[in-house]
Amino acid sequence: SRKLIWLDCDPGHDDAIAILLAVHCPRIQLLGVSSCHGNAPLSCTHLNVLRLLHAFGAPIDVHAHRGATKPLIRPVRADPEIHGEDGLGGVEGLPSLEDPALKERYHLDGRRSATDGMAKAVKNSYLNGQKVSIVSTGPMTNVAVFLTLHPELYEAIEEIVFMGGGVGLGNRGAVAEYNILCDPEAAQIVLDCAIKKTMIPLNVTHTCIFTKEIHKSLLAGVDGQPDDDSDPSSVSKAATPLRHMLSTIILYFASSYKSTFGFNDGPPLHDPLTIAYLCHPEIFKTKRYRVDVELAGTHTTGETVVDLWNYRKLSDDDWGTGKNCLVAESVDVAAFFDLLMDCVRMTDAV
Ligand code: BDR
Ligand code: CA
Repeated sequence: SRKLIWLDCDPGHDDAIAILLAVHCPRIQLLGVSSCHGNAPLSCTHLNVLRLLHAFGAPIDVHAHRGATKPLIRPVRADPEIHGEDGLGGVEGLPSLEDPALKERYHLDGRRSATDGMAKAVKNSYLNGQKVSIVSTGPMTNVAVFLTLHPELYEAIEEIVFMGGGVGLGNRGAVAEYNILCDPEAAQIVLDCAIKKTMIPLNVTHTCIFTKEIHKSLLAGVDGQPDDDSDPSSVSKAATPLRHMLSTIILYFASSYKSTFGFNDGPPLHDPLTIAYLCHPEIFKTKRYRVDVELAGTHTTGETVVDLWNYRKLSDDDWGTGKNCLVAESVDVAAFFDLLMDCVRMTDAV
């Protein structure tokens, strides 16, 4: 049977690709999506969730749920340098709020809360005999609040998979990754709970570069035949409106990553790796460690501190107090992009 998942996100160009995979990967049934502050203010990320669900042809009963507008303790931040002011800078072809079908979704989903939605989905699935996997591709405020409010549901959660952190590596600090840095206290709350967890850190996501070659196959015809002349810097040749939209997502993300971080070969696709992990865990190598978040550092606030030596001699018995997290160490990059392009092909019928 298909894995049941809940996705909490802050779209975000790479979050958008995570939603694409969550909607179209055949091994997954998406129960709901919640928005969080993060790459842009919640008012933007929430609307982006709705528009993306609609654009990707998600069933109307996959709702968008509104989450936290700010971190638990710290002031809210956003990242316009990477994602533009509204979280999806430069993206062409997003459905507008004037679209009647989207308007209906907006009104139906406008008052749903993230933590209530997660609780209901997890509880109902459990009563039907299946556990739910929770995926986070943004700051973990919603997930932390949900876990704090509902300890009675821990046994109904299969696992938590999050994109965030790094092993000695950061992107919004020397050793701080953006999602963790936005709400480090929330991340620590999640890491402390007695549920299986997997972290997909920057060390792995930086190997998944959306190269010009892959961009060419995105622009290619629906029959999958790459057009040798297609130039990724012009998106006019995309075979379908949805491929055109995806192409503009990648182009904007590529230019942000080039100007901000000097990535010349293409942008790293962080967030969709969480969904890929749930679909195909066999393409990842992971190892279990104790992971904590630096909450009071002079230079290191927001660092995920990974005890590579297990100097505390912690055991595997407890996902809360023991070695609390599987940390992804590598992924089969070609297999990941095959999965992504399979999901793109599914949208050709939307
Ligand atoms: C993370 O931060 C955001 O820019 C991306 O959406 C991703 O979730 C990478 O550090
Ligand atoms: Ca994100």
